[in-house]
Amino acid sequence: MWHEDILGTIGNTPLVRVNRLTAGLPCTVLTKLEFFNPGGSVKDRIGVSMIDAAVEAGDLKPGGTIIEGTSGNTGVGLALAAIAGGYKCVFTTTDKQSPEKIAILRALGAEVIVCPTAVAPEDPRSYYSVARRLAEEIPNSVYLNQYDNLANTAAHIRSTGPELWEQTDGKVTHVFVGAGTGGTISGVATYLKQKNPDVKIIGVDPYGSVYYKYFHTREFDEEEIYPYVTEGVGEDILAGNMNFDLVDDYVRVTDKAAMLMTRRLCEEEGMFLGGSCGMAMAGALDWMREHAGELSEDDVAVVIMPDGGYRSLGKTYNDVWMQEHGFLEEEAVQTAATLVDQRPARADGRGLVSVAADTTLADAIELMRENAISQVPVMEEGDVVGGLVDQEILQVLIQDPDARAHLVCDIMGPPFPIVDGSSPVHEFARRLGSDNPAVLVRRGNGDLSILTRSDLIGTLGT
Ligand SMILES: Cc1ncc(COP(=O)(O)O)c(C=O)c1O
Repeated sequence: MWHEDILGTIGNTPLVRVNRLTAGLPCTVLTKLEFFNPGGSVKDRIGVSMIDAAVEAGDLKPGGTIIEGTSGNTGVGLALAAIAGGYKCVFTTTDKQSPEKIAILRALGAEVIVCPTAVAPEDPRSYYSVARRLAEEIPNSVYLNQYDNLANTAAHIRSTGPELWEQTDGKVTHVFVGAGTGGTISGVATYLKQKNPDVKIIGVDPYGSVYYKYFHTREFDEEEIYPYVTEGVGEDILAGNMNFDLVDDYVRVTDKAAMLMTRRLCEEEGMFLGGSCGMAMAGALDWMREHAGELSEDDVAVVIMPDGGYRSLGKTYNDVWMQEHGFLEEEAVQTAATLVDQRPARADGRGLVSVAADTTLADAIELMRENAISQVPVMEEGDVVGGLVDQEILQVLIQDPDARAHLVCDIMGPPFPIVDGSSPVHEFARRLGSDNPAVLVRRGNGDLSILTRSDLIGTLGT
C-alpha cells in the first residue's frame, strides 16, 4: 500500500496516553500528536482544504500564487499542497517566529516576507496588511486568509473531529485546544458536539491574547493585548473561524508555565513538542485539577498538540533563551562559576597558577610541569597580559632550542578570553576551540580562575 503523493500522509495522527504528568487525576488523558503530519503540524490539514476551496471557487487558477500571513506552520501546509498543485507561494510572517520555521518555508520554495510583531493589525506594516496588499498587486494571486476562511474549520470538521471520535471509540468527553485562527477548536467542536452534545470543549489561551476575556465577558478588550512568546496561539483580533458558542470554558496560561510544561512533556513523557503544546497541556492540567471532583475514570480527555519540538530548539529547549526570558531559575543554568566550583579542588589548595611576564621560559616550563598544566596565563602587575600554551612552547623550542633562556613576554601568545562568572556555559563553551584552550573566569569579587577544555569535558553532563 502506498500514497499517491505526500498529501496522502496527512491526518490520522496518533493518540498517545499521558502517564506521569497526570498523576492523581481519575480520567484518561490523551494527546493528539499533530507533528506526525508530513509538514510537522496540524496546519497540513488546512493547507489542502483552503487551496481546494479556492480552486473550486475559481479564485485560484493553474500557475497562480498563494499568499498568506502565517506563523510558519500554515505556510508549510500550504507549501506542500502548492507543490502538489503547481502553485507559487508568498508568505508574510512576523519577527517573533523561530528562524527555523522561516527556513523551512524557503526550503519548500516559498518567498517569505518578515514583518514586525509589535504593530497593530491595521498598521500597513503588519503581516496581515502586507499579505492583503500583495494579493492586490500580484496578478493571478489569492489571499487565503486562514483567520476568516471557513475552509480552515471545514478541514477539522472533515478530519480531526472524526479521527478523535473514531480513535476513542466515541468515548472522548473533553477536548483541550489552544486556539489561534480558531479552525481547530471550532471544527473539532462542530463535529464532536454533533456526535455527542455533552462533549466539553475547553480553550486554552496565552496571557496577552484577547480570547480568554472575550469568551468570559464577550468584550473585546484592547488592554488584554501585549506581547508574548508562545507561538501560533492566541490573537489580537477575533478571527472569523473562532466560534465561541461552541466552547464550554476557557483557561489561560503564562509563557513561563507553557515553556516549562513543554520541557516536562519531553522529559517525563518522551514527547518532543512545540511551545503551544506545553501551553495546552498546562491549561488542561489546571482545568482538570480544578474540576477533579466532576471527573471519573470513564472520562477521556484529549489535548491537541499542534506541532513538534524541532522548530523550538533555539527557544524553549535552549537554557540561555529560557533564562533571558525569566523562565528558568538562575541556579538551574550551569554557569562559569558553578563549573569552577564543581571541579575537583586542587590538591595543594592553591588558586590560579600564573607566571610573571619577566620569568624565563625554562622556569615557566618547570612551573607547568610541577603543576601538571598545559596552559598558563601570564601576569604583569596584576593584569593578564598573555597566555602560554604547551603546543606553542613546543613549536618555539623546535625552531630555537636556546629559547629556554628567553623571557616569557617575548614568546607568549594573546591572553585567554575573560568571561564573567555568571556566563552560562553554552555561551562561552563555543570560545574554547583550537585557538583558545582555556578561558579565565572573573568572579564578582575580582578573583580569577581558569577553565580548560578538559574541565568542561570533565564536568558537563555529569
Ligand atoms: C503551533 C500552533 N499551535 C496552535 C495553533 C492554533 O490552531 P488554530 O489556528 O487552528 O486555532 C497554531 C496555529 O497557527 C499553531 O501554529
